[in-house]
Amino acid sequence: MSTHDRHLRVGMVGYAFMGAAHSQAWRTVNRVYDLPARVRMALICGRDTGKVADAADRLGWDAYTTDWRRLVESDEIDVVDICTPGDSHAEIAIAALAAGKHVLCEKPLANTVAEARAMAAAAATARESGVRAMCGFTYRRVPAVTLMRQLVAEGRLGTIRHVRAAYLQDWIVDPQFPLVWRLQRDKAGSGALGDIGAHIIDLTQYVTGQRISGVSAITETFVKERPLPGGSSGLSAHVDGHGSADGHGSADGHGSADGHGSADGHGSADGHGPVTGLVTVDDAAVFVARLDGGALATYEATRFATGRKNGLRVEINGSLGTVVFDLERMNELEFYDATRPAAEQGFTRILVTEGEHPYMSAWWPPGHIIGYEHTFTHQARDFVEAIATGTDPAPSFADGLQVQLVLDAVARSAELGSSWAEVEPTLEAVAA
Ligand SMILES: NC(=O)c1ccc[n+]([C@@H]2O[C@H](COP(=O)([O-])OP(=O)(O)OC[C@H]3O[C@@H](n4cnc5c(N)ncnc54)[C@H](O)[C@@H]3O)[C@@H](O)[C@H]2O)c1
Repeated sequence: MSTHDRHLRVGMVGYAFMGAAHSQAWRTVNRVYDLPARVRMALICGRDTGKVADAADRLGWDAYTTDWRRLVESDEIDVVDICTPGDSHAEIAIAALAAGKHVLCEKPLANTVAEARAMAAAAATARESGVRAMCGFTYRRVPAVTLMRQLVAEGRLGTIRHVRAAYLQDWIVDPQFPLVWRLQRDKAGSGALGDIGAHIIDLTQYVTGQRISGVSAITETFVKERPLPGGSSGLSAHVDGHGSADGHGSADGHGSADGHGSADGHGSADGHGPVTGLVTVDDAAVFVARLDGGALATYEATRFATGRKNGLRVEINGSLGTVVFDLERMNELEFYDATRPAAEQGFTRILVTEGEHPYMSAWWPPGHIIGYEHTFTHQARDFVEAIATGTDPAPSFADGLQVQLVLDAVARSAELGSSWAEVEPTLEAVAA
């Protein structure tokens, strides 16, 4: 049997925003990259029979189930792909690893440090039997971001002094936007902090090769109470096309709710139950940090940056140069090389579409740009390659745990009036 005949049968849980993005990637990866194994989109799981059957058909999966335990225990599955909210990551991932399945789990790894620790421990045990686990911080796989990391690693920026990172969205500026799962602590763990702050924490640590050692933070919940999505009063969850109480997700992927609402409801216009519920997560988190290589950093994660839809921007200043990445121009990287003659110095705009650039040789001719969805194909490529070649994929569950420890330090600092909070070391860091 040639290595190309090896099949990896994927089972995916969750089929809304990330489920659709991952499906696109699993479908595409072998058509673009020459890999040592072929992906089969074997089984998809959701809680509602009609909807998951429809999703299987639409997204291209062979079969469907409403029972994730059946999926993780099936002898017909090699890889479990977890695309559900954070409250189910730990349970599904740990069961899948125990069943000997390779696991790709969406970020943030979990809702709490305790869950993330249990997941990292399960991944370490499974690794001894050749089972691989990876966390889905996809922005690492934007070619311009990978190139940024290469420039830093090659010493082209010299000593890193500053990291400036912002992830800005605006999808809940309207106070009538419903209380979807991302606004409930028991489902999401935290708000802007864990949802989008986690991305810039991982991205900046990946690019600089330095880890955040301590933080001082403020967080805020600007709108403390919101309409329930599809509450018992018959309130519609659809607000300006954002909310979706049927679990199918919204056009922008942010607002889907599972219709399970919140127990902390307030007000009852007609005596038939609550129509609003308390927002139990942060709307925005802002913090300063020290990195263990000596850099100073600032981070801003918010869902209240009016006009900013998915604005992710990172700037890194070193003793020899600066790099700037902006997701809205994701095929470009700005590079200032301070070693050039003074008369030639200035920011260079690198169009990251050459065959020499990370991930790009398999796509289109130079200058033919790629987009958001391609990063998921890159993620699928890296995971398939790691499984097939028996190597460790990154980011690992231990990396996911480390990001969770940073999130925890941010939350602790904010609770204590911004007092300095050290990031707890991970087990590997202690052992090192
Ligand atoms: N990598 C990225 O850039 C990125 C982007 C968006 C979301 N995410 C992460 O992906 C995960 C999912 O987010 P999303 O935006 O796709 O959410 P979503 O609301 O669009 O989809 C969630 C899906 O999970 C299903 N689901 C919920 N609980 C379930 C359970 N107990 N069992 C089975 N199915 C269940 C829902 O029915 C739905 O299909 C989250 O962890 C989120 O942080 C990552």
